[in-house]
Amino acid sequence: MNAEIAIIGGTGVYDSDAFENVQEVEIETPFGKPSDKILIGDFEGRKVAFLPRHGRGHVYSPTNLPYRANIYALKKLGVSRIISIAAVGSLKKEVKPLDIVIPDQIFDRTKHRKDTFFEDVVVHVGMAEPFCSEMRDVAIRTLDELGLSYHPNGTYVCIEGPQFSTKAESNVYRQLGFDIIGMTALPEAKLAREAEMCYLTIATVTDYDVWKDEPVDVKTVLENAAKNEENVKKILRKLIPAIPDRRECECGDALKFAITTSPDKITD
Ligand code: ADE
Repeated sequence: MNAEIAIIGGTGVYDSDAFENVQEVEIETPFGKPSDKILIGDFEGRKVAFLPRHGRGHVYSPTNLPYRANIYALKKLGVSRIISIAAVGSLKKEVKPLDIVIPDQIFDRTKHRKDTFFEDVVVHVGMAEPFCSEMRDVAIRTLDELGLSYHPNGTYVCIEGPQFSTKAESNVYRQLGFDIIGMTALPEAKLAREAEMCYLTIATVTDYDVWKDEPVDVKTVLENAAKNEENVKKILRKLIPAIPDRRECECGDALKFAITTSPDKITD
């Protein structure tokens, strides 16, 4: 069974009422198994796959997530567009808990993750615009129409975790002008680009990180993530049918000029 669009999200984001003709598929990849079985079904008239990023039961930490297996498995299913749902902390007063952000930039502060599919060839893929412009436009229009409190831009700093930041780190990120902080957008966005897939993040704000003298803890993050779930469901139900059938963006050509290893060095 194939899908054209994938949602990578937390378990609670799976909107069972919105899916019809659901099947579960178990996929093996050269990079091992994805985080979990992938659900595929009809969602508002489109074939959509759903993958819980951390696995059912939240078993993978951000460092140990099988990012490469996840993206590879979705590509194998025919997916060309990925919608990632991610809980984030806010680094700005005006970006409030329970707001939604559609980030347009990412800053990499990860340290221990395999972030390329290409280990035997030299591939320099363009990452200047890490998110698909076409998907971002559709998402922004959807949020506008729904009248939700959202921010149409923002820089997402991706930290390694699993610990939250120190105050010194959080304040430096603020001085650098970053807007939101999370642990999972990378290497997802890089791998999606290497796989020539569109990548969109719908970031749901759960807390003010630690700069605002309010402690961040898992309880607050989970409570607010649960509150954000209803909005995420509303967004997906409106966003997915609004995605154009044909891609007009550049994501599908990402590898066109990216491989620099000479062809005689590539053996298979
Ligand atoms: N995810 C949700 N809140 C976060 C925070 N403050 N820092 C990193 N990741 C987060």
